[in-house]
Amino acid sequence: QRLETETQQISLDGYPHYMLKEIHEQPDSIRNAMRGRLDDQNATAIFGGLNLTPQQLRSVDRIILTGCGTSWHSALVGEYLIEEFARIPVEVEYASELRYRNPPIEPGTLVFGITQSGETADTLAALVETKRKGHRTLAINNVVGSSIAQAADGGVYLHAGPEIGVASTKAYTSQCCTLAMLALYFGRLRHMSYEAGQEFITALRRLPAAVEQSLTCESRVREVAEKYQSATTFLYMGRQYNFPTALEGALKLKEISYIHAEGYPAAEMKHGPIALVDEHTPSVFIVPRGTTYEKVIANMEEVKARSGPVIAVTCHADPAIDNLADDVIRVPETPEFLQPIVSVIPLQLLAYNVALLRGCDVDKPRNLAKSVTVE
Ligand code: G6P
Repeated sequence: QRLETETQQISLDGYPHYMLKEIHEQPDSIRNAMRGRLDDQNATAIFGGLNLTPQQLRSVDRIILTGCGTSWHSALVGEYLIEEFARIPVEVEYASELRYRNPPIEPGTLVFGITQSGETADTLAALVETKRKGHRTLAINNVVGSSIAQAADGGVYLHAGPEIGVASTKAYTSQCCTLAMLALYFGRLRHMSYEAGQEFITALRRLPAAVEQSLTCESRVREVAEKYQSATTFLYMGRQYNFPTALEGALKLKEISYIHAEGYPAAEMKHGPIALVDEHTPSVFIVPRGTTYEKVIANMEEVKARSGPVIAVTCHADPAIDNLADDVIRVPETPEFLQPIVSVIPLQLLAYNVALLRGCDVDKPRNLAKSVTVE
């Protein structure tokens, strides 16, 4: 009821659907996530609501990131970010599993609940349970005053603005951006140098423009959607920072177009998904330049050798990819650790356009709810 009333008050601003509007809001929602949080002088991030002293934060020696659905995917990105830049061991847990598991959690562990709505029953229960055991709990949350924000010891608001489309888009990129700032913050409390902190901030400041540029792939993505709209299975593959992007791309398509889709770390392809490859099964590869670039190209070759259509999301023109892929979608290049935020944009647009072509209700897909407040 409350959601219905709020929805009616939020204008579509000329867009046909909230999902498309929210996809296009991402340069701004990311700017808002960073507003007031970048400290150039100290080359770090500022968080006003963690309610922990720098000493307490300095003594954190393990982090658990928990959430559901798309928020769980941002947690995976967070794991890569925090482990690389802050060198703190991170574990990602589905909130629905964490709440009923009894894992050994050491005293120096900090638990983050990641959630757009702040109302997801499993995420709330997981935080309440870990807090009851005496651990510090923080929320990364979009809705001010939500149940999870109230239950946690402190946290960070995303400031993404209301997200109405059931399939999460702008909240996801804001979560990834916030986790990047947390990695910077924890990194600078530890061994990250002043110069490295400055470089990190410079990359963050360039992010909204990169996302803006990424959105220009829309007409290209529409063509790809038209070509593959009748497929019954899609595979999504990426590695390292873009392994979660593959999961998120597959989830978006599944949620709103009802096409079976699976996301995989590209190298795992040979352990199962390759059996699904045939001329009717498109494989989407997220392949920006980086540590595993050549290896992902080799995976693309394996799909091509089995007559599978290949869609590549990549940055610069490279004959190795251009000759191999049936369709190429270009996104701007960022440092590897921010690439998931830029590379997910065409995948959101692909899901949106395929769903539209198949006549699906993109904003309110069947059987799904925006916020799942029951188990
Ligand atoms: C539902 C929504 C998803 C969302 C998930 C977690 O399943 O349909 O889009 O990712 O809940 O929601 P939260 O509000 O906790 O991020």
